[in-house]
Amino acid sequence: MSNNVINNSEAKAQMKLRAAEHVIELVESGMTVGLGSGSTAAMWVHLLGERVRDKGLRIKAVASSVASERIGQSYGIPFIELRKCDQIDLTIDGANEIAPGLALIKGGGGELLREKIVASASKRYVVVADSFKVVPKLGAFPLPVEVFPMAASIVSCALKELGFIPELRLNADGSTYVTIHANYLFDCRGLTIEDPYQMKAELDSIVGLVEHGIFLDMVNYAVIGGETGAIERRV
Ligand code: 5RP
Repeated sequence: MSNNVINNSEAKAQMKLRAAEHVIELVESGMTVGLGSGSTAAMWVHLLGERVRDKGLRIKAVASSVASERIGQSYGIPFIELRKCDQIDLTIDGANEIAPGLALIKGGGGELLREKIVASASKRYVVVADSFKVVPKLGAFPLPVEVFPMAASIVSCALKELGFIPELRLNADGSTYVTIHANYLFDCRGLTIEDPYQMKAELDSIVGLVEHGIFLDMVNYAVIGGETGAIERRV
């Protein structure tokens, strides 16, 4: 790995950590808290865990990914099952892309259905990210789309008609990646999403498509870690 790549990833990690540190203060005792997905959310979950373990912060948590749940459990954070949870006070989550109006692409980690359920049940939904995630338009990051396996071919054709190049996600050994909900996942490339609302409506209308990674009108605000400190961007 070249020094530039190492420096770049170190700089990104610092930006993510600054964003995570900025939002830890939002958590108060008594809250039901949603733990988001990805490496930035993971940094925040570690900070949260330390407060629970060492400082007596009393919360209940719901996780949007297996990884976040494991980190939380390692600190003794008490969890409630998502299926028994009707409302979440605050969720802190990462994103793959953040466009104007706080339109997001999420789901790179493969758990977008669970992530969207947690986001939609949250009274406050705050995104944390490094400044490289901020884009003028969604679509450079391949859009994750979860599909029922029996509809994979039909949904793939529909995605192509919209202009995407859908690629079935595979595991490292070449086998088909299967989500925790026993579905397949397409990573959809090749299209700049000019109108996220129209694209969301098109995707929502495809029968057999379980969920997609466009998140609209969900974020209260995003905290973007820049090189000099955290910058808060409100809707
Ligand atoms: C996972 C997600 C993550 O939030 C997204 O991938 C951001 O991850 P990171 O903070 O590691 O860049 O949507 O499905």
